[in-house]
Amino acid sequence: MAQKKELLYEGKAKRVYLTSEEDKLIQEFKDAATAFDGAKKGSISKKGEINNTISAFLFEYLENYHIPTHYFETISANEMLIRKLDIIPIEVVLRNVAAGSLCARYQITEGTVMEYPILEYYLKNDELHDPMINEYHAYAFGFATPDETRAINRIASKINAILKSFFDRRNLVLVDFKLEFGKRGTEIFLADEISPDTCRIWDKKTHKKLDKDRFRHDMGGVDKAYLELRDRIVNA
Ligand code: TMP
Ligand code: ASP
Repeated sequence: MAQKKELLYEGKAKRVYLTSEEDKLIQEFKDAATAFDGAKKGSISKKGEINNTISAFLFEYLENYHIPTHYFETISANEMLIRKLDIIPIEVVLRNVAAGSLCARYQITEGTVMEYPILEYYLKNDELHDPMINEYHAYAFGFATPDETRAINRIASKINAILKSFFDRRNLVLVDFKLEFGKRGTEIFLADEISPDTCRIWDKKTHKKLDKDRFRHDMGGVDKAYLELRDRIVNA
């Protein structure tokens, strides 16, 4: 078993540690919650455990569909062993239903179902408020080659198709979500997390929000929504 070594990186919602094995890291999920690029701060009870559980479950599920992910195994309630990658500093957002910044930018009513999924790239940079970019920025800034963005787009679209039907079968709507990718040699892997911090998920019938929007917009019932979502994903 890889032994936990020193802290490599601390982000807003996670810590990453080196391990005794050069190609493996430990990703620890925190209860701390932020929104609007860190401007709003708080915490969500049991979020670290819940996001670790949901991410591990979904990574394993996606691996069954031959999606390469950085996940190796769960090692504690809020920690997973992951593959060390060169992270591509791009947030890939997939949207099935209008919400969040899409509604603001294009004046679309929240809840409008997209006729075709939208795939967007954002530069991962809080100081710049994650500006939207396109594939040409990714090439020009040296983040990814055309072959790599083709692979990323293909994997992201496949993940969307798999997860949309996964959530649908649980009477949930996968509204939108954010992915991050990393490279190891020439291979691209899904990295980071898939959790209520990085997805919008609504109840199919009531459209009740079961994700971080409850925290972002002070809607109340945040802790309960995270627990409900975990149970509806894992115990189905
Ligand atoms: P947006 O509507 O604010 O652009 O968010 C789209 C999706 O991406 C939504 O599911 C939340 C997720 N997201 C993150 O995971 N991290 C972020 O920093 C932002 C802005 C959004
Ligand atoms: N992840 C960003 C933050 O922590 C933005 C968000 O999720 O709303 O500030």
